Amino acid sequence: MSWKKKLEKRLQKYPILHDWIMLAYLSLGNKKSEKVPEPTLKQVYSSVWIENTNACNLNCITCDTKLSKRPVGYMKIELYEKIIRELKKIGVKKVALHTVGEPFVHKEFNDHLRIAYENGIGIVLSTNGQILTEQHIESLLKYPPIQIRYSVDGATKETYEKIRRGGKFERLIKNMEKLSDAMEKAGVKIPVRIGSMILEDNIEELSMFYDVFRKFVRDSSYIDFKMPNTLSATDAKDYFGDFGTTITPRIPCGLLWSSIAILYDGRISACCRDYHGELIMGNILEQSLSEIWNGKRYKEVRRKHLSGNVSDVPMCKNCFRSASPREAKKISIALHLVQKSKLRFLNRIIAKAFLPPPLRRTIKGK
Ligand SMILES: C[S@@+](CC[C@H](N)C(=O)[O-])C[C@H]1O[C@@H](n2cnc3c(N)ncnc32)[C@H](O)[C@@H]1O
Ligand code: SF4
Ligand code: SF4
Repeated sequence: MSWKKKLEKRLQKYPILHDWIMLAYLSLGNKKSEKVPEPTLKQVYSSVWIENTNACNLNCITCDTKLSKRPVGYMKIELYEKIIRELKKIGVKKVALHTVGEPFVHKEFNDHLRIAYENGIGIVLSTNGQILTEQHIESLLKYPPIQIRYSVDGATKETYEKIRRGGKFERLIKNMEKLSDAMEKAGVKIPVRIGSMILEDNIEELSMFYDVFRKFVRDSSYIDFKMPNTLSATDAKDYFGDFGTTITPRIPCGLLWSSIAILYDGRISACCRDYHGELIMGNILEQSLSEIWNGKRYKEVRRKHLSGNVSDVPMCKNCFRSASPREAKKISIALHLVQKSKLRFLNRIIAKAFLPPPLRRTIKGK
């Protein structure tokens, strides 16, 4: 473990100190987090996404899965088992069960959890939280380790339902309560995170997230915010609005060196949000993961990224974030500090120094 990781781990015992140091670090112009990744092709697989389905019960404005040019499909259980076994062989310890769809929609979702558990692989779930049956809850408690991240995007019914089209705010809260109660009853703790994008539609209520969702997470630092990007099934990117139009510099994308996305039909994409199946590197039904990972297509895309020709990769050419991950991190940490601090004057200073104007207005103590 690097000294930075060790230090961060230690500091996590003192959340406020940790946040101040991180905020200072991010504000002092240290650009390390956006540096070009090492051009190593060794097998990393730090993130593996298995798309059990690309079907979704919602159609959020930032995602618009309904416009995906791929047909809707569901991964067959035999394929899922084969993938899990292969991942186990190469030492993968955890996988995420989604790319662009809702993992709970798949009818065999409980089997997915069981099979991963039987092979010693942990599961990371990002979910809209709209579907949660008693059987789901039972499996979530029975097959650890599991981490859950609810994507919420709104702290009020109006905003939530505007962004998360087709979702019901009350249902989300009810389901979150159901899982919390079941965990308490069973004495099982599944780490829960709350995630949101920072959008023009919700910017004024980000500080409310702590009032509404704090009870579902271990600590308020488990509530985090990120900037949207242009990866969605629609060409109309109106979700950016007037806010956050800064774009990231064209640097090689770390995903090409650290992750793979296995689509429901066995094709491997280099990108975890490949709505239309544009960045296909191979097919696990025809080749091993290692062959694909070290294969010609991956090498070619990596080379284009490293040689400054990102725009020669059609999908990557149009991939932008509305602001840098550092900025999103800064906003997350500043909000967290404001939420922890009981000192009104301090909240005013933090808001002024670190938050964009529309969000500043919502901070108590202004
Ligand atoms: C595509 S969803 C799939 C999993 C699940 N359906 C969910 O909503 O969490 C994965 C994550 O991508 C986020 N997302 C959707 N559109 C996005 C965009 N344009 N930019 C950045 N993240 C986005 C969602 O909020 C969610 O947290
Ligand atoms: S963000 Fe998740 S819930 Fe929303 S449309 Fe995309 S896949 Fe579905
Ligand atoms: S589209 Fe390309 S640059 Fe963008 S996240 Fe995916 S792999 Fe990275």
